Amino acid sequence: MNAQDIRKVFFDFFASRGHDVVASAPMVVKDDPTLMFTNAGMNQFKDLFLGNSEIKEPRVANTQKCLRVSGKHNDLEEVGVDTYHHTMFEMLGNWSFGDYFKKEAIQWAWELLTDHYKIDPEKLYVTIFEGDQADGLPMDEEAYAVWKELIAEERILKANKKDNFWEMGETGPCGPCSEIHVDLRPEAERRQLSGAELVNQDHPQVIEVWNLVFMEFNRMGDQSLKSLPNKHIDTGMGLERLAMVLQGKTSNYDTDVFQPYIKLIEVRTGMKYTSRRQ
Ligand code: SER
Repeated sequence: MNAQDIRKVFFDFFASRGHDVVASAPMVVKDDPTLMFTNAGMNQFKDLFLGNSEIKEPRVANTQKCLRVSGKHNDLEEVGVDTYHHTMFEMLGNWSFGDYFKKEAIQWAWELLTDHYKIDPEKLYVTIFEGDQADGLPMDEEAYAVWKELIAEERILKANKKDNFWEMGETGPCGPCSEIHVDLRPEAERRQLSGAELVNQDHPQVIEVWNLVFMEFNRMGDQSLKSLPNKHIDTGMGLERLAMVLQGKTSNYDTDVFQPYIKLIEVRTGMKYTSRRQ
């Protein structure tokens, strides 16, 4: 499946579940002093989450061009060092504005990955928010219960606020999240050491592909959490990473998203590109 097919499958899947497919927002953010560049698909919908604008279309999907070079989400130090971070990348997302919540978001993510993209469920792990005392938040039992219907319990891992509580910036919409990770190591390696040990450990072949955020709160300037007027879904799946998975590669740079440019650079410079595993 090339990148274009991957986008199409995503849009068709969510369109058939009542989502309006909309365009990516510009990468330079206007009218929001908390953010310089679009760092996530949800930025353009911030006012809908906060209840500052009227919800006209409760289900939306798109692919958003994101730039993570400053502020809370800054991947700059990772770029060029590993095989799966980029300054600019594309994030496939589906949103529910006060409509469906955890159950549908999780079930549809699983269905899309395993039935439509045909990713082997034996290679997938999921994480859920373990709770956080300082914020007075309990473990996400609801997400856990939904995942238990879909995946073996030993594949559901609990993770802390750093990995499983998503916040747009120092202030703004936020909530617990559930991530889906894929283990791309060869079978012999997978048999030797469970992928569960490598989730969130910066292993280049055990990586997060999709983040499902359950937006419930607004982080205030004094760092307290205020409940949002409605509950929302914000998901983000890295197109380049998904392409790596579906094209059987071990580096995002070996996919059709980057190869045409790399090949052209080889021709123009007369130098050979070699992909490097970390
Ligand atoms: N906002 C979440 C993220 O950027 C999911 O879209 O990971």
